[in-house]
Amino acid sequence: MDIGLLSQICFEFYAFGNTTINMANLLVFYSRTGTTKKLAQQISAQLGCEVNEIMYEGKKPSFPAAAFQATRKSTTQIKGDEQCPSNFDRLILLSPIWAGKLSTPARSYLEKYGKRINDLALIATSKSGEQPGSIESDIKMFYDGPTTARVFKSDTVNSGNIDLSWL
Ligand SMILES: Cc1cc2nc3c(=O)[nH]c(=O)nc-3n(C[C@H](O)[C@H](O)[C@H](O)COP(=O)(O)O)c2cc1C
Repeated sequence: MDIGLLSQICFEFYAFGNTTINMANLLVFYSRTGTTKKLAQQISAQLGCEVNEIMYEGKKPSFPAAAFQATRKSTTQIKGDEQCPSNFDRLILLSPIWAGKLSTPARSYLEKYGKRINDLALIATSKSGEQPGSIESDIKMFYDGPTTARVFKSDTVNSGNIDLSWL
């Protein structure tokens, strides 16, 4: 094979590999009691990515009110979303599970930015660690692109034993 062509192919493979390694991630998370925040910190330390912590624009609801809002699939005004996900290759969105659904701030984020996401990794924490069947449809209401979704048990997150090598 022609040496010039061979070196061109080698370069293309090198460039492709580097593109994957240098994938620009935006990590956005909501955490009410700190578990999801702990996981967000672990991921940001691993990937060295931009991090936005989203919060309620107004007062944080009580536990029963939060569960009720999640059940109703309500949305709310959020703050802390300084970066637009369209400027990043992938959005890593972290949320606690509330009443088997996404938390209201995470749902509100998807409502606001769903059309501006290029690729989504949704990572949730919950007491049970089970993936609720509604998660996929929760996401699809606002965003229909490539998606990875995982749910981790809060006890495992708090013990620091989460394998994030797949990210
Ligand atoms: C309003 C509310 C509803 C919840 N609903 C569920 C649930 O349906 N299933 C579950 O396994 N855990 C549920 N949990 C527990 C949280 O998902 C879990 O503790 C999570 O890791 C908390 O994350 P955070 O500390 O970042 O807020 C609920 C917690 C709250 C506050």
